[in-house]
Formats: sequence, C-alpha cells, structure tokens
Amino acid sequence: MTVIFPKWTNRMPSILGASALMAGLFVVGVVWIYFSPRHLDVGYSPDQPVLYSHKLHAGLMGMDCRYCHQTVEQGPHATVPSTETCMNCHTSVWTSRDPIQKITQAYASAVPMDWVKVHLLPDYAYFNHSAHLSAGVGCASCHGRVDQMEVVRQVEPLSMAWCLDCHRDPEPHLRPDSVSPTDMTFVLRDPDDGLNLAAARNLQPPVHCSGCHR
Ligand code: HEC
Ligand code: HEC
Ligand code: HEC
Ligand code: HEC
Ligand code: HEC
Repeated sequence: MTVIFPKWTNRMPSILGASALMAGLFVVGVVWIYFSPRHLDVGYSPDQPVLYSHKLHAGLMGMDCRYCHQTVEQGPHATVPSTETCMNCHTSVWTSRDPIQKITQAYASAVPMDWVKVHLLPDYAYFNHSAHLSAGVGCASCHGRVDQMEVVRQVEPLSMAWCLDCHRDPEPHLRPDSVSPTDMTFVLRDPDDGLNLAAARNLQPPVHCSGCHR
C-alpha cells in the first residue's frame, strides 16, 4: 500500500487547530487594542475617582467653566481644579455624602485628587488653549456639550486631520466678542459673520508643519 500521508500528518488536525486558535486570538487582540476607546479616542470616558458631574455643576447650576479651569484663557493648559476649589462650597454643601467625604479627606490630608486625564495629545504636537480662545473659538467646538455630560467624554478625534480641517476653514467656529467662549449653546447663524470675524481678527491658523510640531 502506498503511503499517501506520512505518519506525522496524524498530528495535523491538532497543529491546525492550535494555529487557528492562535490566529483567532491574534485577530481578537488587534481588534481589541485598535478599537479600544483609549486608542480610538472619540468616546473615551475613563472612570473618575469621584463621580463629579459637569451636567450638575456647569449645566443645572450654571457655573462658568473658568471657575474651575482657571488658566484656560491665560496659557496652553486648562488645569483641573484643586480640591480647594471644590471646598469653596463643599465645606457646607452635602458634606455627609460619600463622594464629598472623599474630597474632604483629600483636602484635609493635602493629597490631590487623582483625576484621570481624558484628552491627551502626544508630546510632539503643540497646542495652546489661550490662542484659540482669544481667536474666538469656544470650548464647545472642541469638547462638545460638556454641560450635558454626567461624565466627561471625548467627542472629537484630536487627530492631525481634525486640527487641519478647522485650520483651513475656521470661520464657522468663530464667535463675536460679546459671546463668552464658555457659552455652550452659541451657534453662528450667518456664514458671512464668520468671514468678517476672521478678517477683522486677521486670523491665520497654521497649516505648515512647524506650526504644530515645534
Ligand atoms: C466645579 C468645577 C468645574 C466646572 C465649573 C467645570 N469643570 Fe470641567 N472638570 C472639573 C473636574 C474636577 C474635572 C476632572 C474630572 C473629570 O474629568 O470629570 C474636569 C474635567 C474637564 C475636562 C476633561 C479634562 C481632561 O482630562 O481631558 C474638560 C474638557 C472640561 N472639564 C471642560 C469643562 C467645560 C467646557 C466646562 C464649562 C461648561 C467645565 N469643564 C466646567 C471641574 C469643573
Ligand atoms: C481648539 C480646540 C479646543 C478648545 C476651543 C478648547 N479646548 Fe480644551 N483641550 C483641547 C485639546 C486638544 C486638549 C488636549 C491638550 C493636550 O493634551 O495638550 C484639551 C484639554 C483640555 C483640558 C485638560 C487639561 C489640559 O489642558 O490638557 C481641559 C480641562 C480643557 N481642555 C478644558 C477646556 C475649556 C474649559 C475650554 C473653553 C474655555 C476649552 N478646553 C477649549 C482642545 C480645545
Ligand atoms: C459653587 C458651589 C460648588 C462648587 C464649587 C462645587 N460644588 Fe459640588 N455640588 C454643589 C451643590 C449645590 C451640590 C448638590 C446639588 C443638589 O442639590 O443636587 C453639589 C453636588 C456634588 C456632588 C454630588 C454628591 C452626591 O452624593 O450625589 C459631587 C460628587 C460634587 N458636588 C463634587 C464636586 C467637586 C469634585 C467639586 C470640585 C471640582 C465641586 N463639587 C465643586 C455645589 C458646588
Ligand atoms: C475649531 C477650530 C480649531 C481646531 C479644532 C483647532 N484649531 Fe488651532 N487654531 C484655530 C484658530 C482660529 C487659530 C488662531 C489663528 C490666529 O490667531 O491667527 C488657531 C491657532 C493655532 C496655533 C497657532 C497659535 C499658537 O498657539 O501658536 C496652533 C499651534 C494651533 N492652532 C494648533 C492646533 C492643534 C494642534 C489642534 C488640534 C489638536 C488645533 N489647533 C485645533 C482653530 C482651531
Ligand atoms: C494644526 C496642527 C498640525 C499641523 C499644521 C501639522 N500637524 Fe502633524 N500632527 C498634529 C497632531 C495633533 C498630531 C497627533 C495626532 C494623533 O495623535 O493622532 C500630529 C501627528 C503627526 C505625525 C505622527 C503620525 C500620525 O499621523 O499620527 C506626523 C509624522 C506628522 N504629524 C507630520 C506632520 C507634517 C509633515 C506636517 C506638515 C505637512 C504636519 N504634521 C502638520 C498636528 C499638526
């Protein structure tokens, strides 16, 4: 009898099975990493140490963003508030609640709250908040309706293409001086207004590489 399959091929099914399993796991792994929110960015909404709600404080209570994000107009970074800012109210408001006690303890022991960063550009890309706010771009253009978010969520990709899309055509995102950059509901109705604002302010958002990669 001629041997069509040598003896070692008896092990083929299990070898094939094992490699199929590995390939399957590999695909799952790649898909998992690639589509996980941290990498995809849009929708990234990490759990925070305390369930602090923007919807309550900035939305319902109408607090201005700058009460807590104090440096946003002066410099590149917006800074997340210290526990001291929270204690302005929470030394007396809802002090018996668990999350407030956590903040109170952090304050008393001078340990900063370990808020998890949501938006994060790579180091090689330069971004400056104050330059955008003084050009008349509001928070909502880049962060969405934070005043409606129970938990902050990233709504834009923060990719190079996203930056460039606006830099090539910033007009629809501009607002007049009379409207606060923190006004979450403002929309520019007349496109001509945007063109006029851009001309009056002589805006030239960089599209050359060294504008953002310094
Ligand atoms: C009472 C204080 C307070 C006010 C008012 C407030 N914030 Fe915040 N904000 C925080 C705290 C605390 C965090 C960090 C925890 C978190 O992400 O929820 C934060 C986080 C953020 C983040 C995410 C930061 C990151 O890590 O990427 C954005 C964006 C933001 N706030 C925008 C706004 C905007 C826009 C407004 C106004 C509509 C506003 N905030 C009003 C306290 C405040
Ligand atoms: C032109 C787009 C744009 C506008 C307008 C804008 N942001 Fe941001 N914001 C970003 C980007 C991009 C980051 C990530 C910056 C980084 O990682 O260096 C960020 C980060 C933040 C952070 C995290 C801390 C930090 O600076 O990295 C907070 C808080 C924040 N923004 C609040 C605000 C508030 C409040 C306003 C309005 C007063 C605002 N932003 C307006 C794009 C914008
Ligand atoms: C201007 C005053 C004020 C400031 C500043 C303030 N809060 Fe509040 N906060 C309130 C009020 C008022 C309530 C309760 C609202 C209600 O009655 O539902 C509240 C509710 C809360 C709750 C809900 C408690 C629960 O058990 O549901 C949390 C958590 C909270 N605040 C966290 C913070 C944090 C964190 C900061 C600082 C980043 C902060 N607050 C700053 C006024 C403030
Ligand atoms: C919604 C519109 C919009 C988005 C999104 C946007 N920009 Fe801008 N950017 C502008 C405008 C308007 C100016 C102001 C130009 C001027 O003052 O001449 C500007 C100016 C700048 C400048 C020059 C000012 C300075 O600080 O030196 C840099 C750098 C910059 N943007 C980087 C970025 C990066 C990086 C991103 C993406 C993470 C981004 N921008 C996203 C509208 C935008
Ligand atoms: C308006 C700001 C802006 C300008 C102008 C700009 N970039 Fe970028 N670039 C970015 C940002 C923001 C990122 C980070 C994107 C991310 O993490 O997804 C980036 C990422 C990159 C990367 C990393 C790979 C990638 O695609 O994520 C390279 C390479 C790059 N830029 C090259 C360039 C070159 C070359 C130019 C000029 C033709 C240029 N950039 C102009 C903002 C800019």
